[in-house]
Amino acid sequence: MARKFTTLFHVIDPRVFQRQLLDELCALATRVRAIAKTPPGARFLQNLAPDRRAMLYFTQPSTRTFLSFNNACHILGMRTSEIRDPSTSSEVKGESFEDAIRTFSSYVDVIIMRSRHPGRAALAANLMDSIARPVPVINGGSGSDQHPTQALLDIYTLDRSFSEHGGIDGKVIGMMGDLRRGRTVRSLCMLMQNYRDVRLVFVAPDQYAMQDDIKAFLASHNIPYVETADLPGALPELDAIYVTRMQSEWDQAGESRKVDAARFSIGIEEMKLLKPEGIVMHPLPRGPEIDPAVDTDPRAMYWRQERNGMWMRVAVLLKIFKLEIRVREVELGAFTV
Ligand code: NCD
Repeated sequence: MARKFTTLFHVIDPRVFQRQLLDELCALATRVRAIAKTPPGARFLQNLAPDRRAMLYFTQPSTRTFLSFNNACHILGMRTSEIRDPSTSSEVKGESFEDAIRTFSSYVDVIIMRSRHPGRAALAANLMDSIARPVPVINGGSGSDQHPTQALLDIYTLDRSFSEHGGIDGKVIGMMGDLRRGRTVRSLCMLMQNYRDVRLVFVAPDQYAMQDDIKAFLASHNIPYVETADLPGALPELDAIYVTRMQSEWDQAGESRKVDAARFSIGIEEMKLLKPEGIVMHPLPRGPEIDPAVDTDPRAMYWRQERNGMWMRVAVLLKIFKLEIRVREVELGAFTV
């Protein structure tokens, strides 16, 4: 009997991603990027979804998530519409968020959105579930709450980086920086429930420690974590260090500037403490927390991580539109130059 692939509709809550789905998405992303390498392969991909349209509704600043989704759509031949500045949408005339979302759904086949409000994407998905022609909603970042597709591309990056070293299972993963207000680390912690014997090390200033809801989640899934402010002490045992910036856009009065940034930064000296096969990740954009001199170290994974994001987002779209089978069944040999 043919193996059944898992299915996906809305992408809102990282907790619904189980191991089989994560493994399938990683394999799909890798297959797509192999196919895309040759012009016939790229044309094959463009013919997969030319009849689909996407709405990119990004009312909070974004470079990577917007561009990688936009290009992921285009790789599949999809058309895209966008609103990035709410002052150009009918919301300034008083249209409700719900009515705006419903309107987008009249024209497109998927809504990809980023908002400064936690829970907004979930609200949009719930609304879709209540109407006759629902379209999937993908959360591209909701306030300082969740960023599920970033967590997917982070898993893909970890999975690729450790492919010769036993995969993600059993690894010690550090997360550093503004863990309290960083949505990427919150989502990534939730995906860790899928991996065996992972240990987490949170490296943060006291006032930017990981929030209690995530700690409770980890405890209830038996994922051990420790908290420290001692980066040099933590680094030697880490297989990966996931660095994040201070989320100063949420400051009330510039309080994050008072943090001694040097204690939570990676430079050439810190790299000497990291294992030879350890990796450095960052969701980007970066601030002073990673010295650009580190970029040329083969263990610096953030630029590859950024590119992995586009392939993972192609995989997510293929999954949602049930096109995965077409990519799985095609002979790779058909795409040699
Ligand atoms: C992150 C975000 O927006 O949460 N960026 C991204 O999507 N790659 C991280 C950040 O802004 O610090």
